[in-house]
Amino acid sequence: MPELRSTDTVTGLLAEIADVGRDRQRGGYSRPVFSTAERDLTGWFIAHAQRRGLDVHTDLNGVIWASSGDLSSGESVVTGSHLDSVPGGGAFDGPLGICSALVAFDRLQQRGFTPLRPLSIAVFPEEEGSRFGVACLGSRLLTGAIDPDRARSLRDADGNTLAEVAAASGLDPRFLGQDDGTLAAVGTFLELHVEQGRGLVDLSKPVGIARSILGHGRWRITVEGQGNHAGSTLMADRRDPMVTAARVVVAVREAALAHPDSRATVGRLTPVPGGTNVIASSVTLWLDVRHPRHEIVATVVQAITTEAGRLAAEEGCRVTVAEESLSGTVQFPTGLRDMLSHTLPGSPLLDSGAGHDAGVLAARVESAMLFVRNPTGVSHSPEEQVEADDAEAGAIALADALQALLTRD
Ligand code: GLV
Ligand code: MN
Ligand code: MN
Repeated sequence: MPELRSTDTVTGLLAEIADVGRDRQRGGYSRPVFSTAERDLTGWFIAHAQRRGLDVHTDLNGVIWASSGDLSSGESVVTGSHLDSVPGGGAFDGPLGICSALVAFDRLQQRGFTPLRPLSIAVFPEEEGSRFGVACLGSRLLTGAIDPDRARSLRDADGNTLAEVAAASGLDPRFLGQDDGTLAAVGTFLELHVEQGRGLVDLSKPVGIARSILGHGRWRITVEGQGNHAGSTLMADRRDPMVTAARVVVAVREAALAHPDSRATVGRLTPVPGGTNVIASSVTLWLDVRHPRHEIVATVVQAITTEAGRLAAEEGCRVTVAEESLSGTVQFPTGLRDMLSHTLPGSPLLDSGAGHDAGVLAARVESAMLFVRNPTGVSHSPEEQVEADDAEAGAIALADALQALLTRD
C-alpha cells in the first residue's frame, strides 16, 4: 500500500519548491526547460507521484505521465500543467496546477469512490517557450502541431539545438513528434492554472472555468543596418537598426491600439553585437500578438510588418519578419464546460488571454481548464500571487471536477 500523504496542501507543496530556480537578478523564478532547476522540479514531482503509488513514465517528447489504473481503455482523465517558467516569473504559473493535481489525487483517494476510468497527472515541458522560442512545445510535439524537424533545429540563446539539449537530457531526438499511441490513452484533459488577469478578483470568486483562449502567436523581427563606431560615425552617416527597432516598438503599440481587443508586445530585444560604444549591426525583436479572433492577429501582424518595412527603409536598414508560432482561437467544448459549471456552481466562465497546453491539446482531446484567483491580477512577474485559502479551494474544485469525470457514464 503506498504511503498516502493526505496532509499535503497546495501551499505546503509549493513551499517545498520555493527555493528551486530563484532568480536573484531578475527576481522571481527562472526555470527554463531542461535546466538544473526544471530537472530538480520534475525529480521532485516524480518522487511525489511514486510515493502515491502512481506509475511514472516519460514519453517520447519529454512529457511526464504519472498514472493510476490501466490506460489501455483510452478513456483516462488527465490533469496537469508545467514546471518551466518565463525568465523572472512567479511561483504559481505552472506549479499551481501540478501541486493542485497531487492534492486533488489525495482527496480522491480519501473519498474512496470507485473510478470508472484511470487518472493521470501530466507535466508538459517548455510550456512557456522561454528557452526554444515556441510556447507549449511539448504539447505541440505530442499532438503533431509542430514539424519535428523544425522543432529539432530550434536553438536556445546559447546556440544549442533542441535536438542536442533533449539528447543530453535522455530523450532520443529522432523520436520527437506526434505520438498517437500516448494520446490514444487520453480521454479528457483538465488543467488547473493561476488566473493571469483580474477576472476572478473583479467577480470576487475563487475559482473560474475557461471558456476560450485568445488566438496568439510569436514573430521574430530582424532589423539589419550597419555596425559602426559610436564616436567616429556622424549622425547623418548612420544606418542604425536600433533606431528602427525603437520606432517598430512604438508601431507595435499603435497597431494594437488600432484594433480593439488586440494585445501586442515586444518583451525581448537583442542588439548585435551589443556594446555601449558600438552602433549595432542588427537588432532582433520578438513580437507577441493576441486577439480573441485569430484572423485579427494576422491583420495586426500585417500592419506591423508593413510599417516596419517603411521605418527600416527610412533608416537605410532591411527588415525581415519570421513567424515562430501561431495558435488559433480555442473555444473549449460546451458540453464539458457545462458539466464543470454544474459540478462547480457559481464558478464564472473566463476567456484566457494566456496560452496553455490545454489549448493545444484541445485540437486532439476533449479539454477544459479551471482558474484560481490571483489577487494582484499580475502574472509573468514575481508579483503573481495566490492566497492559501484559494489554492486549497482550487484543489478541492479540481478534485470535484475529476471525480465527476472519473464517474461519468
Ligand atoms: C504563456 O503563459 C503565454 O500565454 O505566453
Ligand atoms: Mn502557464
Ligand atoms: Mn506563463
